Amino acid sequence: MTQDFLPIKGYDHIEFYVGNAKQAAHFYDKTFGFTPVAKSGMETGNRERASYVMQQGNVRFVFSSAFTPDSAIARHAALHGDGVKAIALSVGDVEAALRETKSRGATVLKPATPEEDEHGTYITGEIKYAGDTVFRFVDRTSYRGPFAPGYNAIDARGSTGVGLAAIDHVVTNVYLGEMDYWADWYANVMGFSKLAHFTDKDISTEYSALMSKVMENGTGKCKFPINEPADGKKKSQIDEYLDYYYGPGVQHIAMSTGNIYDTVTELRRRDIDFLRVPDTYYDALRERVGDVDEDWDKLQELGILVDKDEDGYLLQIFTHPVQDRPTLFFEVIERHGSRGFGIGNFKALFVSLEKEQAIRGNL
Ligand code: FE2
Repeated sequence: MTQDFLPIKGYDHIEFYVGNAKQAAHFYDKTFGFTPVAKSGMETGNRERASYVMQQGNVRFVFSSAFTPDSAIARHAALHGDGVKAIALSVGDVEAALRETKSRGATVLKPATPEEDEHGTYITGEIKYAGDTVFRFVDRTSYRGPFAPGYNAIDARGSTGVGLAAIDHVVTNVYLGEMDYWADWYANVMGFSKLAHFTDKDISTEYSALMSKVMENGTGKCKFPINEPADGKKKSQIDEYLDYYYGPGVQHIAMSTGNIYDTVTELRRRDIDFLRVPDTYYDALRERVGDVDEDWDKLQELGILVDKDEDGYLLQIFTHPVQDRPTLFFEVIERHGSRGFGIGNFKALFVSLEKEQAIRGNL
């Protein structure tokens, strides 16, 4: 076994560039149940941007928007709409992470940059990823503040979570022909290995298809599926994303829960809309997954999907896009042994997705 040249402790945060960070923060607070924990803005001397740090379980999101039209954040939001800018990974040594990945072909966009305040030193560096998305390496082992220098703690106003515990995986959409490039990039530059490979034979409907490879880091903590469209009679959901995001980017973020019934019930109560599969899905389900110890009526009532493989099973559900462009959405997942991604559900999901695409006039 060779030594992991990029030891990753886990996800540190995901940063979104959005048109209006104040309203985005409010949305993720009131619907998804994230608690605002820190903020940077004019009141902290930040003349460029406002950033809100939101936390739930081990999931940390940062929503940033610009004060000026020439800011990189404003340009990103104008081109892509609201979306993920940075996938931040926690490492013990940012300089080493940049050095090791650069020597294997990474493009360094930001060298190791220490920032200091009375709480200690916070170090970040960034490398280029697909489209305008970046991987950010974060070392906060010597930092004790609420998030980073330049941020003030927010007194949480008693937000209540919905049981979201951790980031399970982060999915990227890329153009046709680019999936293998990025899978190789994860393998060569990041030292990841391939966990799964789905072809258009696994994932296709009458109209569209996609191909996917899943890459994971040495500890298996961070999993990154990469999707590309495959030839179909009509535009695939991946094509639709690429058209409206104006390039590759993060398609969905899956967050784990210990009780998907409670989490989804609460999210529905808070007006989060989920993709619905036809009821015929549930007729065939028992036959497909067998003796899974779950409340079948409740699964169907809430629209939760089930998949099973040799390691166990999983429960999952997908939201509609969370902005007007048909781009980023979320998945809620509860794993019972399975390390898969719900391939048994892909076909039913894509039929439902294509109905939504047709409603949008994009099929
Ligand atoms: Fe997923």
